Amino acid sequence: MCGIIGYVGTHQAVPILLEGLRRLEYRGYDSAGLAVAGHAGIQILRAEGKLVNLEEKAYGTPLPGVVGIGHTRWATHGAPTEANAHPQVDATGTVAVVHNGILENYAALRAELRSAGVELSSDTDTELIAHLLGREEGPLLERVVRVLPRLEGQYAVVAMSTNAPDELVAFRQGPPLVVGAGDGEMLVASDVTALLSRTRRVIFLEHGDIARLGRGGITVFDAGGHPVDRPIETLDWDAARAEKGGYRHFMLKEIHEQPDAVRNTVLAYLDAERRGINIEGFGFDPHRLEKIRRVQLVACGTSWHACLVGKFYIERLARLPVDVDYASEYRYRDPLLGHETLVIGVTQSGETADTLAAMELGRRAGAPLATVCNVRSSSAWRLAEARLLTQAGPEIGVASTKAFTTQLVALLLTALALRRVRGLDDARDGELVAQLQRLPLALEEALGVPDELYRRGVDLITASADSLYLGRGMLYPIALEGALKLKEISYLHAEGYPGGEMKHGPIALVDDGFPVVAVAPRTPAREKLLGNLREVRARGAAILAVAEAGAAGLDELADLIVPVPDVDPLLQPLVTVVPLQLLAYNVAVELGLDVDQPRNLAKSVTVE
Ligand code: F6R
Repeated sequence: MCGIIGYVGTHQAVPILLEGLRRLEYRGYDSAGLAVAGHAGIQILRAEGKLVNLEEKAYGTPLPGVVGIGHTRWATHGAPTEANAHPQVDATGTVAVVHNGILENYAALRAELRSAGVELSSDTDTELIAHLLGREEGPLLERVVRVLPRLEGQYAVVAMSTNAPDELVAFRQGPPLVVGAGDGEMLVASDVTALLSRTRRVIFLEHGDIARLGRGGITVFDAGGHPVDRPIETLDWDAARAEKGGYRHFMLKEIHEQPDAVRNTVLAYLDAERRGINIEGFGFDPHRLEKIRRVQLVACGTSWHACLVGKFYIERLARLPVDVDYASEYRYRDPLLGHETLVIGVTQSGETADTLAAMELGRRAGAPLATVCNVRSSSAWRLAEARLLTQAGPEIGVASTKAFTTQLVALLLTALALRRVRGLDDARDGELVAQLQRLPLALEEALGVPDELYRRGVDLITASADSLYLGRGMLYPIALEGALKLKEISYLHAEGYPGGEMKHGPIALVDDGFPVVAVAPRTPAREKLLGNLREVRARGAAILAVAEAGAAGLDELADLIVPVPDVDPLLQPLVTVVPLQLLAYNVAVELGLDVDQPRNLAKSVTVE
């Protein structure tokens, strides 16, 4: 969703703002803009479409100044036009703001300002914040404190004013903001990737925080304007990890980073001898865990698919019933919750609004609350009492890949931890832990498939506007994930289905050349899946199967088999998803699409 960057320092602001915006592009956006405070007051540049349009304008219109704010906008209120792009200014041009989120009392505020004679120049809710601040008097911080109670909804805002041209004031209620303390320069952004090239010393603002940034430092206040203590953290992510590193796209780089990401996640939770898991590393209170009778997993999108696999892991290994819910549905359905339910929010970003709301329900009900999360200090991280960090590092490609596989590993480790707490562990656990440590090698093997196979896979998929992905058991979520990857980046329709449900409807779609992708490694249920494949084959389907090489019965059925190594059944979801990621990637590249920033999508969905 929208990206925010702000800078106060001694260097010219425009190149720093543009670089920050470039690093925020992955969040998804459809217009961009920046404002700089200089001798001529606040000057603004905005442009529709991609950042390159704003950059072109910036080269033609030098905006000198060492304080500024920038924004990439993902349209909510009003079309993605230049007039609706941020920054938005007040009527006198003395206050400029950038904003991420949605004001729920937008209509009431708009009517009130109009009847007070304010002429509005955009359709945005953001402009209203600029006018409200512009109509107050005094220092910007005091104005913010007076305006805050008037704003209903979710927002992260950075404001600047000609009254104090050397400072920025940032405030948040909902979407994240992180401030960075550099050397004689302070920054603020909606996520750390925009700051990493200038500083790794950051403060994650809490809900309701206001931060004042000047060249000399950062002061954080509560919503009433009283100073509060917020520690500076030093991040261990470096800027290079958020670069493409020679790959054509971030997504491809991130697919290839999976062996390392998985290795790091496994090792982080093993004991010193690497023979078992280190329960303390999870941060769970063992006494709370002993009382657990069920587990509730909540997430969105790809993370929700990871939860569907997690259900198999936890039920099979820890023998606890598991419910998996879309966070966006769960939060509104008055769920049954109590001390005996372990709630786990699974989220790459740790900032997905629905997942946070679902976790908050758990917290209020007194349920033990954990998160599987890829961003330390994110909102989910801070909300949960137990945290499993997926060690994927920054994920920039909008389509999630390495975060997904590390989530699977984290959920498998969680299942082993719960198994231990419940006294169910035995010698087989050691064997599984050993297999987990060999998993990166299996992933390397899955990544080593010749490109030629994917070229044939691309032909098969692009022959139709639709395709069906089939799997059974814990590979059904992998069929869902494969279909989602294809939809997201190639804009081709695909549906994931459990093989056994085929005859109950979707088989009607199948005709000559209709692509069916089968997630079909060796499992006790494979014979059943082969039965489903025979049925679609008989109706003319073209079949691409993901299975171990030489899989009996598949050769004569499938047009193409993409081989994966033969691994423990619990690890099959991890190795079989890799070819599906690469298939989607190759299709999108072949179609000439923007792999890393697919249309309409945002990397982290910080509003409902
Ligand atoms: C798909 C994708 C999304 C996210 C979803 C949840 O490739 O990335 O479906 O999985 O928006 O995001 P997080 O995991 O950040 O909560």
